[in-house]
Amino acid sequence: MVKPIYFTNKIKDFNKKIFVDGDKSLSIRWTLMASMALGKSRAYNLLKSDDVLSTIASLKKLGVKIKYNKKYHEINGNGLNSYIYKKNLTINAGNSGTLGRLILALLINSPRKIRLIGDKSLSKRDFSRVIQPLKKFGVNFYPNNKTTLPISIKGKNLIKPIKYFENKGSAQCKSSVLLAALNASGKTFIKAKKSRDHTEILFKNLKIPIKVKKTKNYDYIEVEGKKNFKALNYNIPGDISSSAFFIVLTLLSEKSNLIIKNVNTNPSRTGVITILNKMGAQIIFKNRKLYKGEQIADISVKSIKKLNSINCPTKLNSSAIDEFLIIFLVAAKARGISYFKNLEELNQKESRRLDWGSKILNMIGVKTELTNHSIKIYGNPNLILYKNYEVKNYLRDHRIMAMTTVAALTLGGKWKINDPDSINTSFPSFLKIIKNLGGKIN
Ligand code: S3P
Repeated sequence: MVKPIYFTNKIKDFNKKIFVDGDKSLSIRWTLMASMALGKSRAYNLLKSDDVLSTIASLKKLGVKIKYNKKYHEINGNGLNSYIYKKNLTINAGNSGTLGRLILALLINSPRKIRLIGDKSLSKRDFSRVIQPLKKFGVNFYPNNKTTLPISIKGKNLIKPIKYFENKGSAQCKSSVLLAALNASGKTFIKAKKSRDHTEILFKNLKIPIKVKKTKNYDYIEVEGKKNFKALNYNIPGDISSSAFFIVLTLLSEKSNLIIKNVNTNPSRTGVITILNKMGAQIIFKNRKLYKGEQIADISVKSIKKLNSINCPTKLNSSAIDEFLIIFLVAAKARGISYFKNLEELNQKESRRLDWGSKILNMIGVKTELTNHSIKIYGNPNLILYKNYEVKNYLRDHRIMAMTTVAALTLGGKWKINDPDSINTSFPSFLKIIKNLGGKIN
């Protein structure tokens, strides 16, 4: 067991430039795609977090050759349907919903049953959302009708394309179907509620036949399977979800300035920026560029004294889905009552984040009202803490660890945070950057 960490001082003012670790969604997607490409793909700045390490370990079990030499990761792919399926194979997705849901799609041709397991948190999460569409492709799951891990999948040699309607705004569901479609003979059609579109962008870069028609609420996607694609080198940009903690640390500290270099600012991920700017922040993108279809920028942010409450438009939910915990913390310090609605998906994450977010705010004396997947947060601009606070984080949720660290460093009080290593799921450099900005960890 890793020892808890303690915070007893607020962070002093800072004026710095930092890099955050590589984007998790892109790191997992690149690794999976490279394992099915023809030839050697290299990634620079691939995220070296537990979720990505689980991805690499899973693919190695399927016979994929992966090397790391300090500068880059190299994956030697043998094309579509080239994995080696050993007897009694178990794949462990660890804490990663993205890996668990996406790798099932890659096992669609397996002639043998493969067991998929995960940690305590992942084993509580819903898998029916990908089992249902994958079954339509013709594969079987065991036990039939089970909706959580562990489950086993047995594939087919001949996979038929499907028509699928994704209505949760889940990029994992959409991506799982897109990946399965790569091995189907013919065209798969998807109508998907808006969600992050890294998989579609990667497909285009790999020259996989994909057509995307974007309308206001839905994307209509058509992808043709059975087309091999070539290897792809990639320089993974920083993760906006990891950046969000440092954006809020800066906003809520007294008089600080921060630039976060080279972050993926794909519009399907920047809901947090739109929301915080609506609340009075002045977050700016600088040095904007396009890299392999993804938008990249340096993010500039400074401390703000007056933050306002927000009635958050639900159309921003999907593009801010991983940032709500840290947004709730800003709402706790804002003037007025903030309202966030239709957040049922937030309770489907590594922990029940809508419920836990509310409990953490209550612990620090902030009033909340939880009704019907919505939360009202009664903000208090004069919120200053003096007491002792303990964060149990029993499901080891990395974003609860990071959110409470930011609370401890900006609001005061004496904090004990258990299982601080949970942050290694997504952001191994987190505490190193906290120290670099002057945060004192005991
Ligand atoms: C992710 C999609 C989101 C997000 C998760 C990463 C992805 O999940 O919460 O952290 O990389 O596709 P959902 O698809 O369940 O919304």
